[in-house]
Amino acid sequence: MQAIPLALYIHIPWCVRKCPYCDFNSHAAPQQLPEQRYIDALLHDLAQELPSIWGRRLESIFIGGGTPSLFSPEALDRLLSGIRALLPLRTSLEITLEANPGTFEQAKFKTYRELGINRLSIGIQSFNPKQLHVLGRIHNQEEALRAADIARLAGFDNFNLDLMFALPEQTLEQALADLTQAIALQPTHLSWYQLTLEPNTLFAKYPPPLPDDDLSADIQQAGQALLAAAGFKQYEVSAHAQAGRECRHNRNYWEFGDYIGIGAGAHGKISHYTEQGNLSITRYQKARQPDVYMQSTQTASARTQVNTLAPEHLGFEFMLNALRLKQGFRRSLFSERTGVNADLIQSIIAQGEQQGLIQTTPDWIEPTELGWQFLNNTIELFLPAGA
Ligand SMILES: C[S@@+](CC[C@H](N)C(=O)[O-])C[C@H]1O[C@@H](n2cnc3c(N)ncnc32)[C@H](O)[C@@H]1O
Ligand code: SF4
Repeated sequence: MQAIPLALYIHIPWCVRKCPYCDFNSHAAPQQLPEQRYIDALLHDLAQELPSIWGRRLESIFIGGGTPSLFSPEALDRLLSGIRALLPLRTSLEITLEANPGTFEQAKFKTYRELGINRLSIGIQSFNPKQLHVLGRIHNQEEALRAADIARLAGFDNFNLDLMFALPEQTLEQALADLTQAIALQPTHLSWYQLTLEPNTLFAKYPPPLPDDDLSADIQQAGQALLAAAGFKQYEVSAHAQAGRECRHNRNYWEFGDYIGIGAGAHGKISHYTEQGNLSITRYQKARQPDVYMQSTQTASARTQVNTLAPEHLGFEFMLNALRLKQGFRRSLFSERTGVNADLIQSIIAQGEQQGLIQTTPDWIEPTELGWQFLNNTIELFLPAGA
């Protein structure tokens, strides 16, 4: 049986203030962050997860948010030392920290690096002062530019920049100027997201004037060409990386690997073999409200909404992730990660090939250009009957 890689996601649920477009589980930070209590809760939570992953080694850690760079180096030191004491780690472990340019201080980031954090994901969104204002960001253009320098000087040779496009009233030229600026900062990775209006956000309630579909598509096409010309390979819907710099942690999600989720609102997915030798996959979530979450780690388990994936949903669940990989995936990955015989989805694959959405070789499966353009339709081929 092939070992399924294991990652750890840690959620830090606070930000200086809430951005009007963001539906992540992030809350405006109180005057005094309960750092110590929260780190205690995270370590309790992880200790409770151990029986489900005995003997397995971590391949990557992602500290996401929210704005984890609000936490002091001392707090993150205690967290990482606690994790190292609880779990075996791969020697060349990827440890990513999400950071906001409004929270960058040279000394702090140098210490983060010394703690073993070796990848930063910096939330820039735009370099345009007007856009930054409309997006309610806490940083200005200068801070956005300086963040990359500080990261490099602190010893981070591997960092991602998050940018968004199709921003309110954005023109093609403005979107490309943002990308050009980002490329000039020489990140190893660029996540380039189309702004979406998410339910329960201020932007959903008071929608700003966004570029229409045609302009958004033009921006996307021209931006992807610009990124490719600068040596960034698109390997997922929004992810572009220099050679060898794909995000290992995110790639594990898309390859339907396992991950422990600790922290407020964190999700986890863990596979195990039953006594009969069948693969059983459990998903769970943690309480979203930071206080409720911290309380919940004082009980026997902080898990909520635990469910075991039904075998008939596994094909869809796998494809929902793996088809996001532009270059596709090994055919054998399907049965390794779902425990389902690949023959059972062969007729759907054949249907996808007939419709020109999927192409295959004896050991590879990938979306075609058309399948990529209509990714939702491609994925929906795998919906179980009656769903
Ligand atoms: C959880 S946020 C973490 C980044 C960090 N908190 C920051 O904003 O500086 C991850 C990324 O998701 C993207 N994002 C958030 N809301 C979005 C939306 N409504 N549409 C598109 N992308 C979004 C942003 O690019 C953001 O940097
Ligand atoms: S985009 Fe980032 S900084 Fe803004 S509210 Fe969301 S998580 Fe916080």
